[in-house]
Amino acid sequence: MTNKTKSRFSKYAPFYDLLYEDKDYGAEAYFISDLIKDFKNDKKLTLLDAGCGTGIHAIELSKLGYILEGSDISGEMIEIAREKVKKANISVKFHNESFQTLNKIKGRFDVILCMFSSINYLTSLGDLDIFFQNVFSLLKKDGIFIFDFWNGEAVEKGFSKVRTKSAENNSMKINRKSETSIDTETQEVFLKFYFDLYENNSLIDSFAENHHLRYFFIQEMKNILSKNNLNFLFSCPFMERKSKIFSDTWNISFVVKK
Ligand SMILES: C[S@@+](CC[C@H](N)C(=O)[O-])C[C@H]1O[C@@H](n2cnc3c(N)ncnc32)[C@H](O)[C@@H]1O
Repeated sequence: MTNKTKSRFSKYAPFYDLLYEDKDYGAEAYFISDLIKDFKNDKKLTLLDAGCGTGIHAIELSKLGYILEGSDISGEMIEIAREKVKKANISVKFHNESFQTLNKIKGRFDVILCMFSSINYLTSLGDLDIFFQNVFSLLKKDGIFIFDFWNGEAVEKGFSKVRTKSAENNSMKINRKSETSIDTETQEVFLKFYFDLYENNSLIDSFAENHHLRYFFIQEMKNILSKNNLNFLFSCPFMERKSKIFSDTWNISFVVKK
């Protein structure tokens, strides 16, 4: 998908942070920083977070001393990210570019990130090639690319057809039901989210969003990277730098070098 206006996160964006407040982005920033330090020891590195969503990794990483920019296809997510950095008086530049139009960003980066399986939103191999070519041209010499993705083996073995998640703060409550189906021939994932939104215990809105994703197998991902001149360096389960990957490891982190 190359059209920025077709973002799937449009209605979902204002509730994204509430729904994922159980995710420890601070700890994730340390995980990313440790991976960076394993392969780069320069000071003051420049990072671009592609598919940055509401900018939480970008904000946490800038607190660790990195110089951050972020980009996302969703104008709504970027708007929220911009407001957050303004409020926190943090300097992070955000762009409203898709993975496929990332080359419009000026500048070169030491590290490019793509976190929380955002890459799985690229369902066509052609679009994945375009993204990797953009990553290649935006990386400085010896730059590294860190991303995580859904592991095909784990998805096919263990995906749940129906899941629910809830979150609430002082006045709002959000319930999300997800229905998932997969096509094992094309590796596509069809995810339908149903949201119910409550304010002071009264239902104020219900809406649904269709998310279309694709899972990847480890060797397949390595082949696509190498076809695009990106050299595989390291893999581990997401958030477990010292652990081994097993067939039921759902989220896999890759470190790749230009
Ligand atoms: C699961 S969210 C992850 C957001 C963020 N990285 C995080 O960790 O919270 C997936 C993100 O990918 C973005 N996305 C999906 N397709 C995209 C595309 N083709 N180009 C750029 N961003 C995309 C969505 O807008 C969304 O913000």
